Amino acid sequence: MAEYKTTPTRNLALELVRVTEAAAMAAGRFMGRGDKIAADQAAVDAMRLMLNFIEMDGVIVIGEGEKDEAPMLYNGEHVGTGSPPQTDLAVDPIDGTRPVAFGLPNAIATVAVAPRGTMFDPGPFVYMHKIAVGPEAKGKIDIEAPVEVNLRAIAKAKGKDLRDLTAVILDRPRHKDLVAEVRRLGVRIRLIPDGDVAGALMTAWPDSGIDVLLGIGGTPEGVLAACALRAMGGEIQGKLYARNEDELRRGREMGYDFNKVLTMDDLVNSDDVFFAATGITNGELLEGVKYMGNGIRTHSLVVRGLTGTVREIIATHRPEKLERISAVKY
Ligand code: FBP
Repeated sequence: MAEYKTTPTRNLALELVRVTEAAAMAAGRFMGRGDKIAADQAAVDAMRLMLNFIEMDGVIVIGEGEKDEAPMLYNGEHVGTGSPPQTDLAVDPIDGTRPVAFGLPNAIATVAVAPRGTMFDPGPFVYMHKIAVGPEAKGKIDIEAPVEVNLRAIAKAKGKDLRDLTAVILDRPRHKDLVAEVRRLGVRIRLIPDGDVAGALMTAWPDSGIDVLLGIGGTPEGVLAACALRAMGGEIQGKLYARNEDELRRGREMGYDFNKVLTMDDLVNSDDVFFAATGITNGELLEGVKYMGNGIRTHSLVVRGLTGTVREIIATHRPEKLERISAVKY
């Protein structure tokens, strides 16, 4: 009989994937139907129901909704059965509500869990600067350095020319100068309409062909990406971004430092992190939900920080059977 240092312990991510699958299947029904709120509501309801069956005493640190006044799993909400372990949660029932509503790529449902007190709470501040890379370029980035310095460092770490690099950037007017600078350097760009959690994850996903995520995106999405990249061996750095003087002043009053570099340890200060994501619409990272008539197919990513194991799970669900035992309408 083999001797183990410890007995294998619970992998919560294998339970979280049921949560993201449920959210994706519920939201996927709304693809292209033009109704962001209905899609979000369906994902939130499915996610909340499934989360509450997980044995944990969870508090949502990173919820989402205020920005869009969307239906939400709110910050401070308790989820799970209430028994140990005590955990922090970051949830995004749909990262990419617009892509779902208009049938565009790369929308995912996602959840991360870490021990209580380890996740960064961005308060009301919705945006941050981000730079994210996969394992080969970990330790080589510096969010305070010029874009050119970062891109050259990433290219060197990956043994590529600058022209072989691909950066993923949210397609937003605020990124006009960034895009111009990246173009000047001859680096390829994948402009995404939405969904920078998937964008950050792609940097650690060899098949995606993406080397770096750059630009300003949501803070909740930044913490979720940090949880995933911490487990996958990549790196993200952030810096809170104030949209105006008033936000800057409020931040200062609340003790937030907009000049501070948020490292991986600031964003999630534990290796004991779990992450799951399920594709809603097709993307580089995950396939979208497929409704086949006799079943529903989902494609998910399941990641555990302690071991670094990354699983891809393709599941076939039977809605007619599920609906006999579940309150969620798939
Ligand atoms: P939601 O669909 O969850 O609202 O977020 C989509 C998203 O594209 C995120 O991935 C990104 O971080 C954020 O919005 C960027 O914000 P904005 O659309 O305001 O530029």
